[in-house]
Amino acid sequence: MDQHVDISLTVNGESVTRRVEARTNLVDFLRYDLGLTGSHVGCEHGVCGACTVRMDGRIVRGCLTLAAQADGGEVWTIEGVTDTGEIKGLQEAFVERNALQCGFCTPGMLLTLSEMMERFPAANRDEIREYISGNYCRCTGYEAIVDAVEMARKKGDAA
Ligand code: FES
Ligand code: FES
Repeated sequence: MDQHVDISLTVNGESVTRRVEARTNLVDFLRYDLGLTGSHVGCEHGVCGACTVRMDGRIVRGCLTLAAQADGGEVWTIEGVTDTGEIKGLQEAFVERNALQCGFCTPGMLLTLSEMMERFPAANRDEIREYISGNYCRCTGYEAIVDAVEMARKKGDAA
């Protein structure tokens, strides 16, 4: 039995068509088939948030989403939103506030926070922490990250 599927989707604004194993998850597809290695694989259980990407306008766990589920959809990764400049303000605030953590956790954090800034622009510090609570880093107390969100908001928004 052929366990492959043909998928067509848009990734970072570009049309992509590939044949993938039906069991391939979205983050592996992005990393290994498309070479977009900004999204990472940590727990593979939907816990750590390292695999966070945006699909059809909302963030999803790339490890719990099959590539086949993205068929016909629109996916954005950290590479794409960096190229468009969409989250430039947030990225700059991360640098200025020294909120930048490692390359493993930061891409997912940025995608999560950009969604939060759009959906809940007036979130207070506790609410920011709550929103980012699905993006794990054991190396930070998250203070600088919350500071960076507030700084980016003061300057305009994510961009
Ligand atoms: S790798 Fe997906 S949530 Fe941890
Ligand atoms: S997991 Fe990225 S700095 Fe801690």
